[in-house]
Amino acid sequence: MAKNCLCLTGKTLKQNVDLLNKYRNFADLAELRVDCLDADERLYLRRFPELAGVPVILTVRRDVDGGYFNNGEGARLKLLANGLAYANADSRFNFAYVDIEEDFNAPSLEEAARTFGTRIIRSCHDLKGTIDDLSAKIKSMKRAGDEIVKVAVSVKSTHDVLNLFRASSTFIKQDKILICMGHYGIYSRILAERFGSFLTYSSVLSENVIPGAPGQMDVRELSELYHFKKITKDTKIYGVIGNPLKSSVSPWFFNTIFNLENADCVYVPFPITDINDFLDLADGLEIQGVSITVPFKETVLPYIEEKSAIVQSIGACNTMYRNRRGDAWYGDNTDYAGFTTSLLNFLGRKDLKRRKITIVGAGGVSRAVAAEIHKMGGKALILNRTVHKAANIASRYNFRWGGLDNQGIQLMSKYNDIIIQTTSVGMEGYDESDPLELYEFSGKESVMDLIYTPAQTPFLKRAESAGCKTLNGYDMVIRQACLQYANFFDREIPKTHLSQIYSLGANGWDRIASG
Ligand code: ATR
Repeated sequence: MAKNCLCLTGKTLKQNVDLLNKYRNFADLAELRVDCLDADERLYLRRFPELAGVPVILTVRRDVDGGYFNNGEGARLKLLANGLAYANADSRFNFAYVDIEEDFNAPSLEEAARTFGTRIIRSCHDLKGTIDDLSAKIKSMKRAGDEIVKVAVSVKSTHDVLNLFRASSTFIKQDKILICMGHYGIYSRILAERFGSFLTYSSVLSENVIPGAPGQMDVRELSELYHFKKITKDTKIYGVIGNPLKSSVSPWFFNTIFNLENADCVYVPFPITDINDFLDLADGLEIQGVSITVPFKETVLPYIEEKSAIVQSIGACNTMYRNRRGDAWYGDNTDYAGFTTSLLNFLGRKDLKRRKITIVGAGGVSRAVAAEIHKMGGKALILNRTVHKAANIASRYNFRWGGLDNQGIQLMSKYNDIIIQTTSVGMEGYDESDPLELYEFSGKESVMDLIYTPAQTPFLKRAESAGCKTLNGYDMVIRQACLQYANFFDREIPKTHLSQIYSLGANGWDRIASG
């Protein structure tokens, strides 16, 4: 099974030992990045395997390969030789592995490593892109029997990841480490086992140390959120596709449920560039179902064989899953029902008849919200920074519209039973202001903000302080995710598990959301 290797980039041996002790439960082995150590600390690197108590990879990464070492090859050879010197009869006191780049020629060093049972990782890094013929590369790199070939490439597209996956499957019996560096390769790290990789590297991103390479995941996140050690060849894979993939509650939601159910499933983020390449990858990895976010909700439609009624009527799909035979994709859209049930439950109503509502924003989300409000018999005013976009949506349903200015705010006096905020304003890391700052709450309005990170936007906080009943978007996303789960598994989530999801919300999701 793929191992979780904690990459140690501390400046001192003690700092690295402390990190290892803190995260030992998650790591199967460690990589000592000698290039990150202070110069005088490097003198004592030979002691590290004994201090570590787990198998350790000895690595002195050059700057040209993405590391920090720039003192020349002579000095590097000396450090590596120092690491392998004084081999102990008890192999736990020696480095278990040594990382040697493919262009680094030191036969005596390699001989010493082999003699004392230190396995050679023969590595190659491409920091700028990927390698055309990866299969040929993997084949050509291995020199002696038990060497592990490591190829780390910088992927810029789903196609690059697919190429690596395909190359991997031609070397099933060979121990190899295959890494897709960068944002688009993140899932290859989580699914290292399925990519045929001997190990995955992780970092301690929450501490004050540098990550070992671009895209490395946090050791704890990998273990606690994705349950990395439980992922086997049989694990059923689900996930979310999008680009960019914003911080999403879905991985936490699904993986928590899977854990509570003791199900052999994992839910993974798939930031993708191309739907065709993703579907090829989905076949190779036998992905069972995915949630879909922007910009693929429409582009995915030609690949969906059977569309639910809602997908047919609105032309957007947020869930795809395999049919029972596994030879076609089915599509559904759970965004709408998630929003509607959340809103009605919040209001304690069955419909929106005689309710006057203001919708803030006129983007994609607002369009869906307006359609649902119309369906439930509500009357609405749509206010947006760009007024013609509000007019465009409102005119379809005989709603009113305006800007986020004094004129628009005045119209709100007749549309303030319920206020629904659909823009991205107030979202963490976006624009943390208040889109409706000109409006004064009376305290009688019911206010819903579809944002859930942060739990309370400045807008929602102001509404609550004025005495309004408020709700953020957390309940809505959980409801739509429950519907996705029902699509994926053809059953409901047990109520006890769901109540745990709601009660864990503050501790579980918030902790992950805040990193
Ligand atoms: P989504 O699919 O999430 O609705 P979108 O279609 O890009 O995303 O729409 C974003 C909404 O947020 C729009 O209503 C946008 O207003 P404009 O149509 O005027 O662009 C609104 N929005 C984004 N940033 C905003 C800001 N700083 N102030 C006010 N409205 C903003």
